[in-house]
Amino acid sequence: MRLAPRVPYDGIMHIKCKVGWIKVQCEDLSLFGVKFRYLNGSTCEHHEWVKLKLNIDNRTTVFNGRIYREENRHAVALFNEDDLTISELLGRFFTDRIRRSGRCPYCKERCPCEGASCPSCGMPIDFTQADLVQTIRRLKVGDVIAGRLPEEVKSKVCEENTDFVGSCERMTRVFDLIRRFAPTDYPVLILGETGTGKELTARAIHEKSPRREKAFIAINCGAIPGELLEAELFGYEKGAFTGAHRRKPGKIEQANGGTLFLDEIGELPLELQVKLLRFLEDYTFSRVGGNETIKADVRLIAATNGDLRELVRKGKFREDLYYRLKVLSIELPPLRDRGEDKVLMAKYFLEKFKREQEKSIEGFTDEAIELIENYSWPGNVRELINVMKKAVVMTDKRFIDAVDLDVDTSKVSKNIGGQRLFNLKEHMDKLEKELVEKAFNVSKGNISKMASMLGVSRPTVYKLIEKHNLA
Ligand SMILES: Nc1ncnc2c1ncn2[C@@H]1O[C@H](COP(=O)(O)OP(=O)(O)OP(=O)(O)O)[C@@H](O)[C@H]1O
Ligand SMILES: [Mg+2]
Repeated sequence: MRLAPRVPYDGIMHIKCKVGWIKVQCEDLSLFGVKFRYLNGSTCEHHEWVKLKLNIDNRTTVFNGRIYREENRHAVALFNEDDLTISELLGRFFTDRIRRSGRCPYCKERCPCEGASCPSCGMPIDFTQADLVQTIRRLKVGDVIAGRLPEEVKSKVCEENTDFVGSCERMTRVFDLIRRFAPTDYPVLILGETGTGKELTARAIHEKSPRREKAFIAINCGAIPGELLEAELFGYEKGAFTGAHRRKPGKIEQANGGTLFLDEIGELPLELQVKLLRFLEDYTFSRVGGNETIKADVRLIAATNGDLRELVRKGKFREDLYYRLKVLSIELPPLRDRGEDKVLMAKYFLEKFKREQEKSIEGFTDEAIELIENYSWPGNVRELINVMKKAVVMTDKRFIDAVDLDVDTSKVSKNIGGQRLFNLKEHMDKLEKELVEKAFNVSKGNISKMASMLGVSRPTVYKLIEKHNLA
């Protein structure tokens, strides 16, 4: 759930970026920033610092901001104003909009919405107070659990874009390390299986560091071939190689002042390991094909889901680099070792997805809880997210049941008490519904086509449509 609600805002906004002022179409506003759509082909760069000219309550206001995310010509610009300014400029606007709509932006219940919080769900709805705005905007990793907010809110919120959930001992320790490491400039090594939240942790360190206003640049060493990786990381001069028509700064330069996140560091080729180590000595380097020594003020965070020590033993990873990186390290536990967090997170994601999809699911059955607790979650948090998303989309029931959780049941550590997990009829019904739905969509409801696709008669198709409520 978002602590700062979004309100629809369909005005035109002007953005001053490297290409000058451009006009964009706003979609919605929150206390954090504004979502918009680019018009007429011009775009700003990801992470670019911009000025935003917005019309709030018939007054043109200029904000400072940063382009945060871009997808299909839609983007988000995050505001970079102090909390008092945000509460004065936007707080009133939000509070008025919520009062006028007469509906709580979180639980969607009708309410007079006149007080500080919604009478139904208890979430804050008056954003004219700077201290509330400050709490919301400062709410970062772990704070949710550390508990700055009242109990009923604390259990429901996480900061937009950096939701980081966890309360078990091992995750509390991770949050503690994040807080300790963030203010320093030393490299950090993050270890953990796939999907345990390594990138999320790297971002959290950046967000909590004094570098938070500068760029966070991520690069996956495993995804780029070795020869391109050097140019990508260190940049290149014009003519450095065929196709190098102009000078290009690399990721290190882009991350200047901020954080460079090297994912899958174990995949870094040996010759680049030497160059990286040299860079870490005095934070200077040269672009590929260049002689100029360039200095970059960059904080390095590296991550791997492999065993670096084993790579060192095999001669695939330099020992000196390994020791340089591992001074400050964080090990993320696999989800299966996070005790009560498995269920806590499942509830958190159920809440999040049911709101996104506007479904009125009330919770889990006992069998579902038992399955969540006893499944080994090899894909960790990413798998849990996907399983929850699918369950919320697929179910029409009030309670998510074990059969709604699409997991590999051979990876369940014990026989689940309730036998429903292995209930053949329920599984067949579920599969039948999925197939009938697919055939319905593909054939656009054409009964003859559906009958031939499903290999049944037309009367059976009618029965199936009725049974699964597809009409
Ligand atoms: N504790 C958590 N609370 C909420 N969401 C989480 C948590 N940990 C991970 N996630 C989410 O799970 C997904 C996977 O996390 P992330 O990409 O950080 O994992 P990773 O360890 O980098 O994975 P990989 O090794 O596959 O690159 C992301 O959507 C992330 O936001
Ligand atoms: Mg990752």
